[in-house]
Amino acid sequence: MYNINELVKKAIEAKSKALPKYSNFYVGAALLSEKDKVYLGGNIENSSYGLTICAERTAVFQAILEGERKFKAIAVVGDIDEFLPPCGACRQVLADLCGKDLDVIMANKKGETKILKLSELLPYSFGEEFLK
Ligand code: THU
Repeated sequence: MYNINELVKKAIEAKSKALPKYSNFYVGAALLSEKDKVYLGGNIENSSYGLTICAERTAVFQAILEGERKFKAIAVVGDIDEFLPPCGACRQVLADLCGKDLDVIMANKKGETKILKLSELLPYSFGEEFLK
């Protein structure tokens, strides 16, 4: 197991490092590996808007480059009243790189959480099994 509130705290810390230059919509993510290491992510925007990258993907790409391949959970937070749900593109990337058993901890600006498995957020999805 792991400490949900600690992971949300890390996501809030990551949010402060994000660079949403155009939308000013700050998102932070904290990804917990099986080895209990936490990788931070924040959204980084670009003047060519479509090149923006979300918080979740900056975290997972960083972790992969550090050699991590198995993950327990990701916490995602924004400065909004609602629990922040990962976008569709991030769901696909998380499914491929972290597995559909991943816990997705969606937090609101108060730090309250809603937790779903990635399999619940991305049912009937495409994946590597189709490529074999
Ligand atoms: N964003 C994320 O970082 N993660 C999500 O799952 C939803 C959207 C970012 C992308 C963009 O910088 C800003 O939020 C507004 O869409």
